Amino acid sequence: MKNNIIGLKLGIVIISLFFVVLLFLGIVIDRLFTNFYYSEMHTETEELTSHFTVMAESEDTTTEQMMKTFAEFSNVSIFNISKNGQVDFHSGVHDSADRSFIRAADLEAIMSGKSVSFDYKDPAGHHYFVTGQPIAESDNIDSALYVMASTKSMEQSLSDVRNILFLSGFGAFILALGITWVIARALSRPLVQMQKATRKIAAGELETRLTISTKDEIGFLAGAINDLAVDLQRYRDTRQEFLANISHELRTPITYLEGYAKVVMDGLYETEDEKNLYLNIIYQEAHRIQDLVEDLFDLAKMEEGNISLHLEWVDLSEMVDRAVRKVELKAKEKELGLAIHHSGSAVKIHGDEKRIEQIVMNLLENAIRYTDQGEINVHLVYEATSVAFIVEDTGMGIPEAELPYIFDRFYRVEKSRSRQYGGSGLGLSIVNKLVSLLGGTIKITSQVGVGTRFEVHFNK
Ligand SMILES: Nc1ncnc2c1ncn2[C@@H]1O[C@H](COP(=O)(O)OP(=O)(O)OP(=O)(O)O)[C@@H](O)[C@H]1O
Ligand SMILES: [Mg+2]
Repeated sequence: MKNNIIGLKLGIVIISLFFVVLLFLGIVIDRLFTNFYYSEMHTETEELTSHFTVMAESEDTTTEQMMKTFAEFSNVSIFNISKNGQVDFHSGVHDSADRSFIRAADLEAIMSGKSVSFDYKDPAGHHYFVTGQPIAESDNIDSALYVMASTKSMEQSLSDVRNILFLSGFGAFILALGITWVIARALSRPLVQMQKATRKIAAGELETRLTISTKDEIGFLAGAINDLAVDLQRYRDTRQEFLANISHELRTPITYLEGYAKVVMDGLYETEDEKNLYLNIIYQEAHRIQDLVEDLFDLAKMEEGNISLHLEWVDLSEMVDRAVRKVELKAKEKELGLAIHHSGSAVKIHGDEKRIEQIVMNLLENAIRYTDQGEINVHLVYEATSVAFIVEDTGMGIPEAELPYIFDRFYRVEKSRSRQYGGSGLGLSIVNKLVSLLGGTIKITSQVGVGTRFEVHFNK
């Protein structure tokens, strides 16, 4: 029960409601039956009395005997009372000595031609319904006829009805108790399941899933808990993967640093040129670590959402020209063509200059890095509501199956590309995050062996 408080509360409410309804219904039905039996008995006895009166008024000498038989048959007692209160004639089971039901006021009313009827309890405690009517002989009222009908059989019937009512009420109550228990359990079981599942998830068992699939609020809540578990699991896995990647990425350049530094330290070189070559490697690897740390720092800041933008009006044309000039040397070293094409009328856009330059530089560096021959074309297209910055190369391209992952952290097409080209796989994930931070969109199309095209759109 400790885990089923809601079920208990719900059960108590439903059962109390049921109890009140049943009680009310029982009382109403009991009243209906009691009233019905009483009014039936009253009309019956009054009709019977009228019959007896008609009989008594007849001149026939056999009347008395007939009345006796009739009274016996009808299970009533009759009393013929004269004006002065004397019993002229009596029949039936009721004791003829008991006269307490004869009241002067009633007798007076009967003698003046009226009928009376009332409930009566005899000294022995039996209940009767009594009616009195005048007996007239040639328009002259000289006696009263009382008919006493015992209410015993009616009370017996009423008590039977009450017993049936009580039994059926009790049965309904037990049934309701059972149904309530089932409903309360059905309602609280998924809640208890969810409570247990969330406790497990909180304790780190992120594979926990709920199997509740009902199409109601409870089902939706279970779905939300499952989604939360999936998210947490993904978060944990990517964090672990992230840490593994970082240590892996750092280990390689550090091994180079260590190795070449030792070579130089121990004087294991033959010429001054060889020494300079080793020092150059040390310098480059140190630079690589610095870049990596900077990228990681940027990514971490963006993922935590606490990167601040310095918004200003940016002249994109000028900035792209500047960026292209920066990478020109690298392109020349690889004998790649590099050209900028402007179209549309140039306008400034509202953005963070440093961040946009980071995007442009990353895409340009990738294009040069992953292109061995051919050319790189940069387009800056001013459209009605947006500006498109496009970098097209004639490089090795990216297989279609890899495109969905290209913006993931540390993702590199064929891991062998990494050392050969010196990338760590963070550039595009930074680009992607910056573009969405600046409210733009990025699109990529690529064909292996033909080239790659990155298209970034910013709103004007
Ligand atoms: N223009 C391109 N042509 C072909 N492949 C590309 C191109 N740009 C990116 N890629 C592929 O996508 C991968 C991810 O690129 P990304 O810029 O994120 O990382 P990186 O260039 O390897 O390292 P970093 O940019 O962090 O120094 C690259 O390793 C490369 O395999
Ligand atoms: Mg890159």
